[in-house]
Amino acid sequence: MIAKRTFLLGAAAAALLAAAPPVYAQDAVKIGLILPMTGPFASTGRQIEAAVKLYQAQNGATVAGKKVEVIVKDDTGTPDITKRLAQELVVNDKVSFLAGFGLTPLALAATQIATQGKVPEVVMAAATSTITEASPYVVRTSMTLPQVTTPVADWAAKNGVKKAMTMVADYGPGIDAEKAFTETLTKQGGTVESLRVPLRNPDFAPFLQRVADAKPDALFVFVPAGIGSIFMKQFVERGLDKSGVKLIGSGDMTDDDLLNDMGDVALGAVTSFHYSAAHPSAENKAFVDSFKKMHSMRPNFMAVAGYDGMHLIYEALKKTNGATGGDALVAAMKGMSWTSPRGPISIDPQTRDIIQNVYIRKVERMDGELYNVEFDTVPNVKDPVKAAKK
Ligand code: DHB
Repeated sequence: MIAKRTFLLGAAAAALLAAAPPVYAQDAVKIGLILPMTGPFASTGRQIEAAVKLYQAQNGATVAGKKVEVIVKDDTGTPDITKRLAQELVVNDKVSFLAGFGLTPLALAATQIATQGKVPEVVMAAATSTITEASPYVVRTSMTLPQVTTPVADWAAKNGVKKAMTMVADYGPGIDAEKAFTETLTKQGGTVESLRVPLRNPDFAPFLQRVADAKPDALFVFVPAGIGSIFMKQFVERGLDKSGVKLIGSGDMTDDDLLNDMGDVALGAVTSFHYSAAHPSAENKAFVDSFKKMHSMRPNFMAVAGYDGMHLIYEALKKTNGATGGDALVAAMKGMSWTSPRGPISIDPQTRDIIQNVYIRKVERMDGELYNVEFDTVPNVKDPVKAAKK
């Protein structure tokens, strides 16, 4: 009898619980942060997660009366896993945002789920131009490769580079970079020969031998974050640092996360990019100082895009007064502008891509450490591929 009453009470309590979800579930806004936390692209995950933690430490975990809960998932850099995790986060965890996406194939693996679930997909890393066109719920805080590559191609044309070679990772962003560089330099009378290196387990040696044989004025390189030091090591092993071939690239190659360990070989490399840890502004100094203090490492461009992605999410929630409908959130994000550690930025309301300054930089030693030191600025650059379609 006693046992039966206990059972009935238990069942009644369970029914009550099912009917009235606990208060915290209603008042929490969940962000599913999908990142490569292990595998060859783990530096991207580590940087973005660290920046998200810093943003929440500085801005609190409550927005518009709602607690913001970040759920971090490791996709190991594998698109099938990204897709499964995105599905689980939307269906089971009922996240209001998907965020992260360390590589182009990973961002593309989630766009269908974002569209079907009407959940904003905040892309903090992946940088192939077309990604924002794969879903109206994609909003990007990183960059596009054509956006950050064109300025260094212009710089090369103005600085005597007539014969160039490109060496890019053979997938979306690399092909975007190759095309932007080639079009920009050839329009100004230069010639370009292109080389493509596999993305996974890259061996640059045979390609570097072709560069050594051809002796171009400059070699333009795109490798994704985390891979630049492998490239630099092989560049030196082939003797190319002493060959007179000028090393240029998008700033992924001289990524702030790895730059200090590359050594003197990196000195003098000219790149164009949207972020340097040495960007001289009060906002950036505060960002770099607090990031280093919290995480004992230097932030790179992935970190700044994660930090700005969180700002975008927080400000969108403020604008909707905490309402989490995907359409209202994306509408709130369009046209938003603010001062990032990288400089002034905004979300293009037409494309949902980021508009930002692109800086021309040179690797120099400052206070005993290697930095990408900015020496010229191209202001408010849009993704040129989408701008040309209009
Ligand atoms: C991509 C990844 C990177 O790490 C990077 O530096 C640039 C682009 C990408 O896969 O889109």
